[in-house]
Formats: sequence, structure tokens, C-alpha cells
Amino acid sequence: MGDHLDLLLGVVLVASPVFGISPCSFDGQMALYHFCNLTQVPQVLNTTEKLLLSFNYIRTVTTSSFPFLEQLLLLELGAQYTPITIDKEAFRNLPNLRILDLGKNQIDFLHPDAFQGLSHLFELRLFSCGLSDVVLKDGYFRNLKSLTRLDLSINQIHSLHLHPSFQELSSLKSIDFSFNQIRTLCESELKPLQGKMLSFFSLADNKLYSTISVDWGKCMNPFRDMVLETLDVSSNGWTADITGNFSNAISGSQIFSLILVYHIMGSGFGFHNIKDPDQNTFAGLARSSVIRLDLSHGFIFSLNSRLFETLKDLKFLNLAHNKINKIADKAFYGLDNLQILNMSYNLLGELYNSNFYGLTKVAYIDLQKNHIGIIQYQTFRFLEKLNTLDLRDNALKTLSFIPRISAIFLGGNKLVTLPKISLTANLIHLSENRLENMDDLYFLLQVPHLQILILNQNRLSSCNRSPTPSKNLSLEKLFLGENMLQLAWETGLCWDVFKGLSHLQILYLNNNYLNFLPPGVFSDLTALRGLSLNSNRLTVLSSDDLPANLEILDVSRNQLLVPNPDLFVSLSALDITHNKFICVCELSPFLSWLNQTNVTIFGSPADISCTYPNSLSEISLYSISTEGCDEEEVLKSLKFSLFILFTVTLTVFLMSVFIVTKFRGFCFICYKTTQRLVFKDHPQGTEPDTYKYDAYLCFSSKDFEWVQNALLKHLDTQYSDQNRFNLCFEERDFVPGENHIANIQDAVWSSRKIVCLVSRHFLRDGWCLEAFSYAQGRCLSDLNSVLIMVVVGSLSQYQLMKHQSIRGFVQKQQYLRWPEDLQDVGWFLNKLSQQILKKEKEKKKDNSIQLQTVATIS
Ligand SMILES: *[C@@H]1O[C@H](CO)[C@@H](O)[C@H](O)[C@H]1NC(C)=O
Ligand SMILES: *[C@@H]1O[C@H](CO)[C@@H](O)[C@H](O)[C@H]1NC(C)=O
Ligand SMILES: *[C@@H]1O[C@H](CO)[C@@H](O)[C@H](O)[C@H]1NC(C)=O
Ligand SMILES: *[C@@H]1O[C@H](CO)[C@@H](O)[C@H](O)[C@H]1NC(C)=O
Ligand SMILES: *[C@@H]1O[C@H](CO)[C@@H](O)[C@H](O)[C@H]1NC(C)=O
Ligand SMILES: *[C@@H]1O[C@H](CO)[C@@H](O)[C@H](O)[C@H]1NC(C)=O
Ligand SMILES: *[C@@H]1O[C@H](CO)[C@@H](O)[C@H](O)[C@H]1NC(C)=O
Repeated sequence: MGDHLDLLLGVVLVASPVFGISPCSFDGQMALYHFCNLTQVPQVLNTTEKLLLSFNYIRTVTTSSFPFLEQLLLLELGAQYTPITIDKEAFRNLPNLRILDLGKNQIDFLHPDAFQGLSHLFELRLFSCGLSDVVLKDGYFRNLKSLTRLDLSINQIHSLHLHPSFQELSSLKSIDFSFNQIRTLCESELKPLQGKMLSFFSLADNKLYSTISVDWGKCMNPFRDMVLETLDVSSNGWTADITGNFSNAISGSQIFSLILVYHIMGSGFGFHNIKDPDQNTFAGLARSSVIRLDLSHGFIFSLNSRLFETLKDLKFLNLAHNKINKIADKAFYGLDNLQILNMSYNLLGELYNSNFYGLTKVAYIDLQKNHIGIIQYQTFRFLEKLNTLDLRDNALKTLSFIPRISAIFLGGNKLVTLPKISLTANLIHLSENRLENMDDLYFLLQVPHLQILILNQNRLSSCNRSPTPSKNLSLEKLFLGENMLQLAWETGLCWDVFKGLSHLQILYLNNNYLNFLPPGVFSDLTALRGLSLNSNRLTVLSSDDLPANLEILDVSRNQLLVPNPDLFVSLSALDITHNKFICVCELSPFLSWLNQTNVTIFGSPADISCTYPNSLSEISLYSISTEGCDEEEVLKSLKFSLFILFTVTLTVFLMSVFIVTKFRGFCFICYKTTQRLVFKDHPQGTEPDTYKYDAYLCFSSKDFEWVQNALLKHLDTQYSDQNRFNLCFEERDFVPGENHIANIQDAVWSSRKIVCLVSRHFLRDGWCLEAFSYAQGRCLSDLNSVLIMVVVGSLSQYQLMKHQSIRGFVQKQQYLRWPEDLQDVGWFLNKLSQQILKKEKEKKKDNSIQLQTVATIS
């Protein structure tokens, strides 16, 4: 499912870089020779800057291998399929080389002077080259005064006895010795590096200090007089003891970032043979100014008391992916400057008030992916600088509090409801919970300063009352996908949920089972730019459904039949794939819009296809012709002589149309008034007949208020003396206590007509459907139509047809629709009155209103 609104969320897809030239060739600056079966360096232009020769069969490189390439900056000569020999001053013809990559070669012979002459070399890659200690001992790198990065990882180096010339490599910043066999490292070996400041030094994956016992008294501090920005000693199998001895040994050396991931410190779950780190483990780092400590991916089960006490400068502590289940009292004591604490992916089950004691400056605590089921009330209360708390993917069922911070992540828990306490936040993430009641949504929408609210994958469906939303809320992005808003809205409540969201820019309502949009539900969303209605069950969109300034709309995977293109004019992009288009002439405005619009249409043409008629099923709308739908057009373009007449007629016609559309309600009132004046008090005679009631009004009790306002007040004599009908309806005329069926039967047989007001509620009310069947029964026995069906609300033909008794009726008879425009109501009531008065023997004439235009479908 493509979420195009991501475009608005600032997600930018970066196309992968593609070389502009074909393989095994060169242009002015770049020569690309990967996988070209070369056995020697090819001839390239002297303007070449990048020469890429990896994956070939080059066996030897000597001084004469390369032509003089003054411009060359990058040479890749790695991963040759044959062993390679590199001779004396092999790269002398490349005086300005910056990067030399020889990685993944089997170097059979490397001359000690191989790299001489590369005075501008910045980076030398020698990883995975089968090199031994000799490469360090014998001064291979002397004179490389620009050398900054040296990669010697994945080789056969056992000891780091550095040649004295390392002392002169004044640019050297980063050295990678990971994946070698350096079992021990003492002060004497790194002497040439003393006094240097390195940004990166890696000794990871060397089994360093863990397989042989070290006499630290003799070995002393390998990093004496050095400043290391990052020291990586990961994956060396370090226990708490080794770590402790190492920290003590390097005491005083500056190490700003210590990476010790994949260690074996800690007892793990259910074991006791290896100790958890304790107060002594990191004590030796007291004077090392450690700012970042990464201890992730280990087996720490218990965070012991005062564990980090000496790390006063620490700002980032990563304890993710351990087995932490216990946090001892004062575990974080002393971390006065800590800002980010990462304890995700551990085994925490509960949090206590005392757990984070001492973290006075912590701003971000990451606790996702634990098993936290309960949090003591004041756990986060005294963390005054806290602004982000991540509790995603835990086991919280209830919360008694939510800290007042700017971003709170609670997704992936089991929350059923939220505590109604005062709250401020910019971002609240609550997806994948079990929230059910719309009250929680209304509550969250009131949170001051809230900008992003993420509530997808909940169960929002029930609406008890419609609380009044406030004005001008700050919310900008609202994610409500994968809920069940249909259930809430079809009760007729909570239609005002988006009221006041005048700053909202992005709204996701995908996968909510929606088969209608409440009228005006988006009317306040004047700032809305992106709306996703993806994967619902909408069959129509009407012009007032969409917010005015919408730019991107996703209505894919709905059941739109014949969309009106006028809806989409304001858009810049639209996804309308996977709908159920009915390919009949009514669709031609949409087809021609689709053919020439400037709006970006997402998806492939094949996904915008017909569902009906069968002959066109699965055919793309782009390949359908609208020929034969234009007959009216042909008529219009008759002879010019007809044109004048036509124009005049048209003008008159349009005037009348205008008057009728704009003032038809008023005209009708005038007409009725005139009629009354002319005929004085001669109401069209209603000859007395045998019926007790004029009509039995059958409707769902949930619609009572509406019926009372819309119909009863204008028709029933008891509501007003002006009214002329004696109506029957359950709320007033049914005999209390008597069998309901008997009441219905009685009403059906003692009324001249039966008027069924078929609404959404009606269709769900068993009694109403029962009454409808009875009324039909009477139709049959009277061989006439006493049943008048009025469809109220936006019910589709399909929804009506689902009910057996109504299907029978709809197929044979015509029915009325309650008018959408208020000014038509008077006229409609008049028509309805005539129908009620109409004599039964008369053949029903076509005086029904707004016949289903979609009748072509059935
Ligand atoms: C390299 O040699 C292999 C095997 O002979 C051949 O399949 C391949 O096409 C050759 N590649 C080039 C770029 O010549
Ligand atoms: C490149 O070679 C051409 C002759 O083929 C020569 O005229 C030119 O000066 C050379 N340019 C450089 C930068 O060496
Ligand atoms: C740590 O140092 C102490 C004292 O020097 C020594 O007894 C112990 O064996 C060392 N532990 C390890 C694992 O090297
Ligand atoms: C914490 O660590 C987890 C796992 O490595 C990572 O996904 C998450 O982004 C980290 N959190 C922070 C705040 O760095
Ligand atoms: C709406 O809120 C914005 C800030 O969020 C404020 O600048 C603006 O004045 C408010 N408008 C009204 C009508 O309250
Ligand atoms: C689409 O437009 C082209 C020219 O702009 C026209 O030839 C073609 O008939 C149109 N197709 C439809 C289905 O309107
Ligand atoms: C599409 O854009 C072109 C150029 O900007 C413009 O001339 C044309 O009228 C536009 N078409 C529509 C349907 O907006």
C-alpha cells in the first residue's frame, strides 16, 4: 500500500547513484573497469580522476604499470581474483593520489617501499590482505605525511609493535585493527603514537586480553599520553573483571567515546557464573572524560548500585540489548550529566519511583521492547529535563499518569483507555493499542500544543456522547488509520470530531470500514493538505466531502463507482487505484478529465480499471473510448441558423433553471399561498373513508426526533391545527403492554397508507423490517400500493438491496428520497401528502422524486 502522504511528511526517496558511463570504459574523469577480465592496467586519459579496477586479474603492479596520471585522486585495485605482487614505488606515477584501495587482495609480496612517493595519500585501505605484523614493524608507511585513515582490519596481525616512523605521521587520525589476532597490547608497543590525538582506534574482535592473563603491573597503559575520540574494544569477550582491569590500566588517558558492545559481562537470565558489572568495573575511567559509553548487546541482568558513579561527564549511555531485569537503588547515581539513556530491548517488567534517581539532566529515556507492565506513579516525576520517553512495545494495560513531556511514545502496548489527567505534549504516539472509545480521541485532541497524534491500529469505534471540541487546536498531523470509525459515525454521533482542527495538515483515515463520510466532517480543516481514505468502502464522494485546500488525496481501494472529476480540481496528486468503476457513459467526464489532467495520478493505469460491465472488466480506464456517448454534443452542433434560436431558448431556460435552483423553495411557497387565496378555504376534499388513520408512519425509534421535526410537525393534526393528517406511529399510538406484532398489524390494517422512512437505523431495526414486510403483505392482498417508501440519508442501492423484503419492493416499485436541499422540503412534503391522499385504485404514476440515477447498475 503506497502511502503518498509520505511525500508531505518529508520522506524523500534518494535514487541510488548510477554511473553515467558503461562498464569497461572511461570518460574524461572516470574510468570504470569492474569485472573486465583485465590482467594489467588499461590505457586511460591523463585527465582521469577516478580509476576503478577492482574485480580483475591484475597480478603485478610496478612503477611502470601506471601511466603518469597527475589528476588521479582515487585508485581502486581491490579484490583481484589472482594473488597480487606490489613492487617498489608502484604508485609513483600517481603523485596526487588521495585514496588507495587494495582491500580484499591476496598480497603475495608487498615491497617495503611500495607506498613511497604518495605524499598526498589521505586514506589507505589494506583490509583483508593477509598482512602480518611485519607491515607495522618495518616502516611501510613512512613518509606518508598526509595519511589520515589506515584500515588494517581483517589481517593476520598478532602484535602492534609500531615502527618509529609512525611518530612522524602527523595527519594520522583513524586506525582500524579490528578482526586481527592481537591478544595483548601494552604501553611499549604503541609508543610512536604517544602525544597524538586520534579520532578512531579500533581493536574490536581480537580476543584482546581475554585468552591470556595480563600482568598489568608490567604492561601498563597502552594509551598513555593519547587522546582518543572513539575507542572500540567490542567483541573481545570481556567480562566485568577484564573491563575493570583495563579501565584501571588506562586511567588518565582521554577517551570520549568507549564502545564495548557484544561483551559477555553479566549473569544473563538464569545463570550466575559470570558477574554483573559493579561499582569497580568502570571506576578506573574516572579521569578519562568518557562522554559516550556503549554497553549494548551483552548479558547484564542487574544494574548494580553506583555502577556508573565515577562517570561524571557521561552524556550518552547505551544499555540496549542486554538482559536487564533489575535496577538496584542508586544504579544511576552520579550520572549528573547524562542526557540520553537507552535501555531498550531488555527484560524490565516494572518501573519503580527510585529507578532513575540521580539523572537530573536526562532528556531522553528509551525503554522500548521491554516487558513493562506497571510503572510506579512518580517514576519520571523528578526528571525535570526529560522531554522524550519511549515506552513502545511493552505490556502496559493501564496508566495512572502520563508525564508532561514533549514527546511520549506508548505504541504497541495494551492500553484500553487513558487516564483523564491534564497533559501537555507535542507528539503522542499510541498506535497498536486497544483504545476503543472516541472519548479518548476527544481528550487527546484537547492536549495543548499537541502537533502530532498517532493513533493508528486501535479499535476506536464507540461514541457515547459528542463532547464539544474546542476551537483552533494546534494539531498538525493525525494518524487514525486502521480503526473502526464507521461504527462510531453510523450511530450519528461524533461527527464533529475534527471540529476546530484548523491547523491540521495531514490526516490518515485509511482502513476504517467507512461507507460514508458524515456531512461537513472536514469543514473546519482549512489547512489540510494531505488526506488518506485508502482502503475504505466509499462508493461516492460528494463535493462538500473534501476540504477546500486539499492537495494530495488517496482514495485507492474504495468502491467508487462513477467519480465526479470536479472534486479533484484543487488537487496536485491523487491515488484512485483499485476502485470499482462502472464504465458507462456517465463515467465519460471522469475519463476525459483523467486523460488530460495535470494532477499527478499515482499507480499504474492497469490499477484504474472497470468493474462493470463484464465485457470491460479489468480493462484500464485509459484504454476506453467514450465514442458514442456524445450524441447530445452532435445535436448541439447543428446549423448556425439554429444557433441564434438555440441561444435565446437557452438563455430563457437557464434563467428559469436559475430561478428554480435558487428560489424554488420560495416559488413553491408563493404558489401555495396563491392557491390558498384563490380557492379560499377549500382544501382538496378528503372524502371520509373507513380508515382510522390516514397513514401509519413506520420508522426506527432512533430517528424519532428527526421524524418529529421533519414530518410530524408539518403533517400531523395533533402537532398543529394547520395540519390535516391523522397519523399513527408507535411512540404515541401503540397500545402499551400489547404484543408488538399485534400493534404493528393493527396499525398496518387501520391506516390508508403506510409510510416507511428507511434510514440506516431502519435497516438495522428488526421491528421496522418486520413492519415493512407486513405492509407489503397488505399491498399484495389489496392488489395495490399502500406502501410508500422514503429513503432517508445516503443509502446506496446496494445497501437497500441487502434486505430481502426491501429488495422485492425496490425492484418493482418506485420510491421517494428525502431531499438533500432544505429548500426542497416543502415541495417534498406536498408530494408526500398527495401520495397519502391518492386513491388506491389509481394507477401509480411517475410522480416519484429523484429516482435512483444509478439504476443502470442493477
Ligand atoms: C570475462 O570472462 C568471462 C569468462 O571467460 C566471460 O564470461 C565474461 O563475459 C568476460 N567479461 C568481459 C567483460 O569480457
Ligand atoms: C595530457 O596529454 C596530452 C597529450 O596527449 C598533453 O597535451 C596534455 O598536456 C596532458 N595533460 C596533462 C594534464 O598532463
Ligand atoms: C585483574 O587484575 C587483578 C589484579 O591485578 C588480577 O588478580 C586478575 O587476575 C585480573 N583479572 C583478569 C581477568 O585479568
Ligand atoms: C536505542 O537502541 C535501540 C537498539 O539499538 C535503537 O533502535 C534505538 O534507536 C536507540 N535509541 C536511541 C534514543 O538512540
Ligand atoms: C489560533 O492559534 C494560533 C497559534 O496556534 C494563534 O496564532 C491564532 O491567533 C489563533 N487564532 C484564533 C482565532 O484563536
Ligand atoms: C485523450 O486525449 C487524446 C488527445 O489529447 C485524444 O486523442 C483521446 O481521444 C483522448 N481519450 C479519451 C478517452 O478521451
Ligand atoms: C496543464 O498545464 C499546462 C501547462 O502548465 C496548461 O497549459 C494546461 O492548461 C493545464 N491543463 C489543465 C487541465 O489544467
